[in-house]
Amino acid sequence: MPYAQVVALDLAGGDQQRAVALRAAHHAVTAVDGGGMSAWLALGAGCVAEGAEAPKHLRPMPSYAGDVLDSAQSHGDLLLQVTGASPGAVSEAVTRTLRSLPQWRVRWRIAGARPGNRTENGRGIARNPFHFTEGYGNPADREEVVERAMVKGGQGEPAWAVGGSYQVVRIIRLAVELWDRDSVPEQERVMGRRRDGRWLDGTPSTERADFGSDRHGGITPLDAHVRRAAPDPGDPPPLVRRGYNYRRGADDEGMIFSCFQRDLAQGFEAVQRRLRGEALAKYALTVGGGYFFVPPTGEHWIRAVTAM
Ligand code: HEM
Repeated sequence: MPYAQVVALDLAGGDQQRAVALRAAHHAVTAVDGGGMSAWLALGAGCVAEGAEAPKHLRPMPSYAGDVLDSAQSHGDLLLQVTGASPGAVSEAVTRTLRSLPQWRVRWRIAGARPGNRTENGRGIARNPFHFTEGYGNPADREEVVERAMVKGGQGEPAWAVGGSYQVVRIIRLAVELWDRDSVPEQERVMGRRRDGRWLDGTPSTERADFGSDRHGGITPLDAHVRRAAPDPGDPPPLVRRGYNYRRGADDEGMIFSCFQRDLAQGFEAVQRRLRGEALAKYALTVGGGYFFVPPTGEHWIRAVTAM
């Protein structure tokens, strides 16, 4: 769906209220879900039910090279995400939900949109603030989404977490003015794809390029975003991305980057490490976000990442 709000909440009362507060949040979110809207909760580090074992990778999101994390827009005990067809409806649903949850205090709240939102061969596609088409690297079918993003048995995770997913949120401020001063061919070399999603060697957007015949980066530079993110196109990283553009005034716009994975180390963390020093870095500043875990209470997040 083309609009979303992402809200991080902290427990307002003492820790002993947590189980009751979580139950209240669960009920409130269930009331929003449906009728053209999707809503889900994700647990922050330290917010796992009393006595339950925590998902093994769940911890506060570390600050990566180049990040300037603002604590007023990072982390949180609980994440609420609502997506829908209109910004007004999403905002109203969030406000209504928050009003019914006095046990929780808003830590940060951000609204986003997906211009040009559509589905192409099963992939959600949209345009990011740098005018590039995003979504082609995601799986085209639901089985592959599940394979990359849903925790399975036998992964060493607690039994209650099987069927859930790690959600990483990154609030990435983008230097759109600086970016727009570069020519489109320069921008395409930074990204490693054409604006419309085709690869730089002409491979169609929905297929995989072959970097093997371009070892020195003559066509797709070695520090291009997609080449760093997925150096072996035959073996794409095990995560599913879903971004929304945000704008909070003339000089603060960017992406609410979200990705889902069943293993944080092999998913987001491996990719983020490879992106260090990429050509895109000088145009992007991560100021917030966090690590969360979506418990297996339904498949709202799967619908949201696969549907329009
Ligand atoms: C600075 C903000 C970012 C921008 C503007 C951006 C933009 C893009 C674009 C245009 C594509 C190509 C189309 C597509 O496959 O969706 C792409 C691919 C990708 N990006 Fe990003 N991205 C950003 C941040 C990130 C971050 C933080 C990560 C993860 C740590 C990431 C991981 C990926 C992956 C895994 C792919 C797919 C590679 C493939 O399988 O071909 N991106 N990104």
